[in-house]
Amino acid sequence: MSDIAKLQNQILAAIDAADTPDTLEAVRIDALGKQGSVSALLKSLGQMSPEERQVQGPVINGLREAVTNGIAAKKAALETAILNQRLSTERLDLTLPAPEAPRGTVHPVSQVMDELAEIFADMGFAVAEGPEIEDNWHNFSALNIPETHPARAMHDTFYFPDQMALDGKKMLLRTHTSPVQIRTMTSQEPPIRIIAPGRVYRSDSDATHTPMFHQIEGLVIDKDIHLGHLKWTLETFLKAFFERDDVVLRLRPSYFPFTEPSVEVDVGYSVVKGKRVIGGSEGWMEVLGSGMVHRKVIEACGLDPDVWQGFAFGTGVDRLAMLKYGMDDLRAFFDGDNRWLQHYGFKALDVPTLSGGVGA
Ligand code: PHE
Repeated sequence: MSDIAKLQNQILAAIDAADTPDTLEAVRIDALGKQGSVSALLKSLGQMSPEERQVQGPVINGLREAVTNGIAAKKAALETAILNQRLSTERLDLTLPAPEAPRGTVHPVSQVMDELAEIFADMGFAVAEGPEIEDNWHNFSALNIPETHPARAMHDTFYFPDQMALDGKKMLLRTHTSPVQIRTMTSQEPPIRIIAPGRVYRSDSDATHTPMFHQIEGLVIDKDIHLGHLKWTLETFLKAFFERDDVVLRLRPSYFPFTEPSVEVDVGYSVVKGKRVIGGSEGWMEVLGSGMVHRKVIEACGLDPDVWQGFAFGTGVDRLAMLKYGMDDLRAFFDGDNRWLQHYGFKALDVPTLSGGVGA
């Protein structure tokens, strides 16, 4: 047997014996690598005379081909064996329950805003919006708040030091949602029935006040609207919101520059096992400000107050949430503490509906 034939038998035997991809790779490097036995033979072809090369060339190339094919075939066989081994041992049980992914909750403020939008939609109110960065005219002047009103002092209002409106007055963060009344009356023909939920800002901070909080404004402008409509609307809204028929309202005369007459509304509570529960009239809690829209406000919006009247109300969304769902520190609303959110938050799929009880 020639040396080349011996070498070929030897390499094919090693290929045959290789039982892992690593040992097979070692055999390949020994034969076909840079210093490999087959590579050395191929290199030697260069030194041969043409006659010799004519004889040796096909033999050595035949050797290389046999080795290359042998390795490829063995590699495929080993891979198939490994795959079969995995297929027979690794099993996926598709009937197992999927691991639970962390799921966020709906913030009580968002939940209560959705509840309010649902309640008022049922009474024919659309949702309106306005900017949080306002000018003096929309936030104060058009609402008949005189220059001397304390709410205008730097103390309560956040002003932008360098940003002026066209009237030369500083822009500000709106201190209430009432400017949306003005924006709606100046951009929309009456009759008007809107609510305007949103963020408002005042320079104030303790357990029941945060510099940013949420209000919801209501506005109705039509012909022949009177205080009775306001009372019915508030009663219907508060009964639906607190999901109780025994909600008792107390209307107290009050003062807001933009309403005349002005009415502050208290809701009655009872004490059950030491806790305040909405319903009955053992005690009273103030929940909102309201009144008939002042003639001057209607005029400032370019409407004739002898034709158009209406009512407006404003209430704190955060406070309503605290009363309904029993949280006692307002600051926790805006801390972003996941434990608080998991405890007080709502499931995303529990959409408030009137038929299902808005606070589902
Ligand atoms: N804007 C008033 C406030 O922030 C509330 C209010 C709105 C009162 C509408 C009357 C009418 O306190």
